[in-house]
Amino acid sequence: MSEQRVVVVTGGGSGIGRAVATRFTGQGDQVIILGRTDAKLRHVVDELGDRASYKVVDVSQREQVELAIASITQKFEHVDVLVNNAGFVKGISTDTPLAQAEAVWEQEVGSNLKGAFLMAVGLAPHLVRPGGRIINIGSIAAYTGGIRGGTLGYASAKAGMHGLTCALARELSPQGITVNTISPGLVSGTDFFGGGLAPDRIQEIVTQVPLGRPGKPDDIASVVFFLASNEASYITGEVIHVNGGWLFGH
Ligand SMILES: NC(=O)c1ccc[n+]([C@@H]2O[C@H](COP(=O)([O-])OP(=O)(O)OC[C@H]3O[C@@H](n4cnc5c(N)ncnc54)[C@H](OP(=O)(O)O)[C@@H]3O)[C@@H](O)[C@H]2O)c1
Repeated sequence: MSEQRVVVVTGGGSGIGRAVATRFTGQGDQVIILGRTDAKLRHVVDELGDRASYKVVDVSQREQVELAIASITQKFEHVDVLVNNAGFVKGISTDTPLAQAEAVWEQEVGSNLKGAFLMAVGLAPHLVRPGGRIINIGSIAAYTGGIRGGTLGYASAKAGMHGLTCALARELSPQGITVNTISPGLVSGTDFFGGGLAPDRIQEIVTQVPLGRPGKPDDIASVVFFLASNEASYITGEVIHVNGGWLFGH
């Protein structure tokens, strides 16, 4: 792995992605953040300084992904780390009208799963060998089906990400590239729940979390940083749970 790494973070304009970008630039690495909203990305890059840059990309759109990868690989000889973090939840239930459910499914699977697939396949030829890393951000919803239901598309997409992780690890590990997923529990302080979950709702969830607090974006960024390091070079094809203990024992 080269000294100053080149790190691509999807969904880097807010929340966990922003914390990940901050962590890597803070260690002297070069970070390119991707997202759909110019203003959010620009704000983060202004904050992080000249080790950070951004591209406006909808990762669910192949043509946009191809353009972004072409421009990144024109500037940088190789990429060390890809963090597939972009995602959102919108909500589909069994009582959602079918045409609407299909439309939301396509958006959720597009951003959360297809985007990771396109980024991984598109960047794979440019990842450093040995030492490259693909780190996906999954979700506890892949195991629980979400906190209250209504997450048919999101939970399916995140569960699919685990299969994608194994399949990518199967192909790329022999070339010295590790592929893993981090599966967070509740993380507060991000844009994920729009204006945020109500304090009593957070409290209700936290009573089920043995460590007694919601996660912070930095809790996830720390594990991303570890998986990207040489210390984690013998971990591949794994799902790492980072949820304060919310899931164990079930
Ligand atoms: N917060 C939690 O409790 C929690 C729990 C488990 C898993 N996660 C996962 O953690 C990841 C980060 O979420 P977060 O909590 O940090 O929420 P967030 O602040 O909303 O960050 C998600 C980012 O992804 C970007 N994004 C969404 N769709 C995109 C697309 N198609 N192309 C490019 N960028 C896209 C969004 O920006 P634009 O809308 O501007 O594109 C946004 O900046 C997500 O994958 C989420 O599923 C979060």
